[in-house]
Amino acid sequence: MNIVAVNGSPHGAKGATAILLAELVRSARAAGADVTTLELSDGTVGPCRACDTCHRVGTCPIKDDLARFRDPILAADAVVLASPNYLFSVSAQMKCFMDRCCGPLHMVALRGKYAAAVVSSGGEESGEVERYLLRFLRAFGASTVGSVGASAMELLDPARRPAARRAAAQLGADLVAAVAAKKSYPDQAAEQTAFAERMKAIVRFQKDRWTYEYQQWESRRWV
Ligand SMILES: Cc1cc2nc3c(=O)[nH]c(=O)nc-3n(C[C@H](O)[C@H](O)[C@H](O)COP(=O)(O)O)c2cc1C
Repeated sequence: MNIVAVNGSPHGAKGATAILLAELVRSARAAGADVTTLELSDGTVGPCRACDTCHRVGTCPIKDDLARFRDPILAADAVVLASPNYLFSVSAQMKCFMDRCCGPLHMVALRGKYAAAVVSSGGEESGEVERYLLRFLRAFGASTVGSVGASAMELLDPARRPAARRAAAQLGADLVAAVAAKKSYPDQAAEQTAFAERMKAIVRFQKDRWTYEYQQWESRRWV
């Protein structure tokens, strides 16, 4: 079982987000999964330029490190996205990565895979960002197993840290169990179907311009 985690903190492995993510990773490994953690801070993934090349021909013309992060998540059984809370959303680094996955997102390329989200915040307000990441992952086609959030105050306080770490460890175990059991999440089906239908309608509408995506949908007999 291959799980890939992408951490969008500019502090990388030394940050608060990484403390929480590391606990999930440790627990998933203990449950038998192969887990790779990729730090966006180890490379450069710049902003999407909205050139539509990914929709038209299936590749991104920007010469940076996108493929180093995107391709492993597309090949994984499960994906974990981790980010600090930056003004009620994800870090700019994570947002660039998410935007640059727009081509595969149109193809709901994480269909059949599982996902989870990890967020750290300065205060006590990670829920909004957790929900945002989970929504993105479901739009991408994945079934979301859950999320975990904690404040840097919790993570840096020896008295409070164990509870946050326990929650992250539980999520790691739940993620592995979901992949192993091919667990279904009927409560997510309506949202996932509605998003995929919307993508299908957009790709159909753009079929003369977005020829790559139209052919992809058609070859899967989804059009
Ligand atoms: C630009 C910026 C914006 C932030 N915005 C928020 C915020 O809106 N709410 C919050 O609780 N913490 C906010 N923080 C604090 C970080 O979320 C917090 O320190 C986090 O644990 C950092 O994780 P890291 O060490 O992995 O980067 C912000 C930090 C920065 C640098």
